[in-house]
Amino acid sequence: MAITDTSIEEKKGEIITLKRSENNYYLMGNKICLRPLLAHDINQKYLSWLNDAEVTEYVEAGKFPTTKKELEEFYKDIKKSKTDVIFAIVTKRNDLHIGNVKISRINWIHRFADMGIIIGDKKYWGRGYGEEVCRLLLDYAFNRLNLNKVLLGSHAPHMSAIKTFQKVGFKIEGRNRKMLMLNGKYVDRIIMGILQSEYIKNTCKITKKPAKRKTVS
Ligand SMILES: CC(C)(COP(=O)(O)OP(=O)(O)OC[C@H]1O[C@@H](n2cnc3c(N)ncnc32)[C@H](O)[C@@H]1OP(=O)(O)O)[C@@H](O)C(=O)NCCC(=O)NCCS
Repeated sequence: MAITDTSIEEKKGEIITLKRSENNYYLMGNKICLRPLLAHDINQKYLSWLNDAEVTEYVEAGKFPTTKKELEEFYKDIKKSKTDVIFAIVTKRNDLHIGNVKISRINWIHRFADMGIIIGDKKYWGRGYGEEVCRLLLDYAFNRLNLNKVLLGSHAPHMSAIKTFQKVGFKIEGRNRKMLMLNGKYVDRIIMGILQSEYIKNTCKITKKPAKRKTVS
């Protein structure tokens, strides 16, 4: 049984529990899961994120209006791609699709790739979801795809994104001066990157408590 957005609305206030296997969950976090982006996700809700100026203020998408047909083409292309992987971000509590995250332009020789994230449902901004999504995606990139480096670019004034990326271990590697146009002004583009070795170190620091030493008397 595939759960639809309509069925979620009908059951407002109720915690919907489905068997994990029915949801296609691929990577499981505390508050969210990542699952394959499915054909039924190419819907009006997704389209509305791409045409919302606030959601797309700092991303490439949204600079031109997007139609359902264009979104379907994008979906077909990315599903066929050997260098891009896209996931739907869904809440664990009610299986709601709130955004997407992707690893793109994977270079299989040098083992680096770009990362992009959109939480389209603005209710979920500023609640730690972005951080959790980045952690799951980096875990996938480094521990399953065995990539060596993940990169991304951000508008310099986009503080919530830069902070989120720094929280999961990205370092600022450089800056392209006055490269991106934002509300009529050119702003710098910040280049950020994280290495597989740094991610492992970072994860250990955050999630693993040091083992207690036995003292010999
Ligand atoms: C950018 C985005 C992924 C962040 O996700 P999020 O779930 O809102 O982020 P989080 O809640 O995990 O973390 C945001 C952090 O930024 C901080 N922050 C927010 N505004 C800030 C500001 N103006 N200055 C400094 N820090 C700021 C928050 O305090 C929080 O840090 P904390 O947990 O230490 O308090 C999300 O807002 C989004 O998808 N936006 C639309 C698309 C987009 O811009 N994508 C990124 C393109 S590079």
